[in-house]
Amino acid sequence: MRLLESMHGHMGVLAAVALLHPAILLRKGKALSQRTALSVWLTAMVVVSAFTTGLVIYPAYRQSVRADLFAKSVTAGFLFETKEHIAYAVVALTLGATVAALAAPKEARRPRRLAALLFALAAAVCLLTVGLGSYLVAVQDFS
Ligand code: HEM
Repeated sequence: MRLLESMHGHMGVLAAVALLHPAILLRKGKALSQRTALSVWLTAMVVVSAFTTGLVIYPAYRQSVRADLFAKSVTAGFLFETKEHIAYAVVALTLGATVAALAAPKEARRPRRLAALLFALAAAVCLLTVGLGSYLVAVQDFS
C-alpha cells in the first residue's frame, strides 16, 4: 500500500505539471497536430491515474488514518476532505478540456481555446490539491 501511496503522490505532482502543456499548446486554438493530440491524451491519462490511485488508497486511509488525523487537527482533517472534493473538479475540468480539444472540427478555434482555459484551470486546482495532499501527509507524519 505504501508503494501505491507514493505512486499516487508522484502522479499528482506529474499531473499538475503535465496539465500546463496542453494549456500552452492549445492557447491559440490552432488545429491539433499529432504531437499536440498525444500531449492531450497523455495528460488525461496521468490525471486519471492520479485520481484512480487516490480512490484505491482511500478505503485504507479512511479505516486507519482519518480518525487519527482529525484527532491531531480538525482543520487538517477537513482540509483533507476538501482536497478529495477538489480532486473531482480536476478530473472533470481535464475530461471536459480533453473532449473539447479532440472533438472540435479543424476550422473551429474557439473550442480549442476553451480547452486551453480549462486545462489551465485544472492545472491551478491540481496544484492546490497537491499542496493540500503534501501538507496533510506532513501533518500526519510529524505531529
Ligand atoms: C488529481 C487528483 C489528485 C491529486 C493531484 C492528488 C495529490 C495527492 C498528493 C500530492 C498527496 C500526498 C502524497 C504524499 O506526499 O505521500 C496525496 C495524498 C493522498 N490522497 Fe490524493 N490526489 C488526488 C486525488 C485523490 C482522490 C480522488 C482521493 C480519494 C478519494 C485521494 C486520496 C488521497 C489519500 C488517502 C492520501 C494520503 C496518502 C498517505 O497517507 O500517504 N486523492 N494526494
